Amino acid sequence: MPGLLLGDEAPNFEADTTQGRIRFHDFLGDSWGILFSHPRDFTPVCTTELGRAAKLAHEFSKRNVKMIALSIDSVQDHLSWCKDINAYNGEQPAEKLPFPIIADKNRELAVKLGMLDPDELDKDGMPLTARVVFIFGPDKKLKLSILYPATTGRNFDEILRVVDSLQLTAYKKVATPVDWKPGDSVMVVPTLPEEEAKKLFPKGIFTKELPSGKKYLRYTPQPE
Ligand code: BEZ
Repeated sequence: MPGLLLGDEAPNFEADTTQGRIRFHDFLGDSWGILFSHPRDFTPVCTTELGRAAKLAHEFSKRNVKMIALSIDSVQDHLSWCKDINAYNGEQPAEKLPFPIIADKNRELAVKLGMLDPDELDKDGMPLTARVVFIFGPDKKLKLSILYPATTGRNFDEILRVVDSLQLTAYKKVATPVDWKPGDSVMVVPTLPEEEAKKLFPKGIFTKELPSGKKYLRYTPQPE
């Protein structure tokens, strides 16, 4: 079945984008990467999403995450749509966004990456691309995927939050609990022995007592 599973390597596809032809691995380089797909150009939900993504581009850049969008239509359509997206953001209607948009006119990538929404059809009865988010680590492996239908806009604050969580796990060996926000305490992973955890987290570990007597609910302040 086409699609990508956690741990899979990003396919090294070639594609035309609003910033020229790319090879995906070269585009990613040593950075983290986010690829987010859209059903169609000049559609309302997509326009609001891309406007928000453009406004948050500096936040992704601060986290060393390269952004790239994908939509069905042509590069020319994408460039023309960019003007609307910038205008929606209250800016000059320029043909440029802070990230490229892939032109997937024949849905080849959408099929390969398992991105189609069978419930949302275009005028020819073809399924539109769903709203997928793939986040790749610097090793080009898939660290997270989100799959929304075409009719539900994503929450880009949540996407930034999950990037923070993924990077805390990658660099600080911690997990993040329910409803975690940056600055909240994080959790020591169950596989880390107590003595090692004490060394790794000098700010201290707070273990919540539980009826089972098992000491697995271990919190530590978010590491710097
Ligand atoms: C939209 O972006 O508004 C949209 C696109 C396809 C189906 C439904 C909504």
